[in-house]
This record gives sequence, C-alpha cells and structure tokens, in this order.
Amino acid sequence: MRKQIAAANWKMNKTLTEGTTLLNEILSADFNLTENQELLFAIPFPYLINTSSMIEGKENMFIAAQNCHHKVSGAYTGEVSVSMLSSIGIKYCLVGHSERREYFAESNQTLAEKVNLCLAENIKPVFCCGESLSIRDSGNQNEYVGNQLNESLFHLSEEKISNVIIAYEPIWAIGTGRTASAEQAQEMHAHLRSVLATKYGNDVANNISILYGGSVKGANAAEIFSMPDVDGGLVGGASLVAGEFVQVIKGLK
Ligand code: 13P
Repeated sequence: MRKQIAAANWKMNKTLTEGTTLLNEILSADFNLTENQELLFAIPFPYLINTSSMIEGKENMFIAAQNCHHKVSGAYTGEVSVSMLSSIGIKYCLVGHSERREYFAESNQTLAEKVNLCLAENIKPVFCCGESLSIRDSGNQNEYVGNQLNESLFHLSEEKISNVIIAYEPIWAIGTGRTASAEQAQEMHAHLRSVLATKYGNDVANNISILYGGSVKGANAAEIFSMPDVDGGLVGGASLVAGEFVQVIKGLK
C-alpha cells in the first residue's frame, strides 16, 4: 500500500521558541502511526537542525525543507542549495509550492531542475501542483495540472519518479477556508494517477503518494483522506495548532 502522509507546512510562521513548543506538543500527543503512515514537518530553514534533533529516533517522522535553489552552488546570495540540505540530513523538500510559483516566479522548468537536484542527493521532493480559481472556473484544471507534472516530472526515469511525492493544492483552497470537496479532490487525484499510469504504467502510478492540500483541518481531514486516491494531506494553517494537526494525523488511512 502507498504511504499515507500528514505533512505540516509552517510556511513563514513561528519563532524558534514557538516552533519547538508546537513540535513538542505534537510529539507528546496521544497518537500512533502504523508502518504505512508518515509525518513530515516542513520547517523554516533556520530551525531545520534543531527540529531534526527533536525527532531523532522517532519512526516514520521526518523534517522537510520548504524550498531549495535550482542551481548546485555559487553566487546566489541568500539561497540554500540541495547539497546544504543533504549535509544536515534532510530527506524531504517541498518543491513548487504555489506561493513560490506566484511570488518568486518559479516555472515548471526551474522546478524540474530542483527535482533533479533533490533526487540526485536522495532527497524526496514533495512536488506541489494545482490550479487557480480562474482555471477551475474555465474547466481546464485537469489539463493544467497534468501539464505541471508533464513539464516538471516526466523526464524522470521510473526509478526516480518513484521517489517523488505529489501534493495537489488547488490555489483557491489555500488559506481560504474553502476546501475542495472530497469528491473534487478524488477526481483530480484519480486524474493525476491516470496521467502517471499512462506515462509510467500502473505499478509505478499506484505506488506514488498524492497528498491533498488546501484548508485541511482536524474536522475535514478524515473525510478527504478516505478517498481512494488521496494519500494524506499537506497542511498549512491547521499545522500551526497542535490539537488540529494531531486530529489531521488521526484522519490518515
Ligand atoms: P492551508 O492549509 O492554510 O490552506 O495551506 C495549504 C498549503 O498551502 C500547504 O502547503
């Protein structure tokens, strides 16, 4: 069975003290992960080392970076390279969050470079995709999101793409409190899996985890995650409140 994943994305929130308190509250909460379930915490760069030591020895829990640069190294003041992340033991990295695409003009081609660098350093990219409201309203969402996969991922070999996690995050549902319905999420996830199957075959497609993101919270996680092609969630606002995120974790299949 595919990995079922609850991923927290803190975005640009929490000081070190606030973040460690939050993580401690979550880690000390009463939940059990099955062998098939994983937790990811996408944490701001300055706290990656501290928080990694907090989860050391914990099964199925990983710290993720929220971004990386698309060049190997060099004169890119203020940027963080994939090999830097690898050198501090990071195993997961968000790539192509819609906020990065919108505010930092990240293109599908740049994201393909990031994906390549991550995989070369044995870091699993959590590749984010999703359409705006105007694309959804025009009815072209399947084609648009399929193309994001095509342009950023489909140069990969079967072996490489098997180490990618996909997160479908419709932009109109991010931070708006307006979640996609479980049926809308399932419809897109099934579409993406069929696009993956056409390119890589059913075995590969059926093993890739596809997370849903966009206003996931304790109260709606279990329903959305119960859909057959939804393999957990990438959670923003609700991941900043321990009790909410623990409810999300408990909603995993
Ligand atoms: P919200 O859960 O706050 O809608 O954010 C979703 C998201 O962007 C996670 O990456």
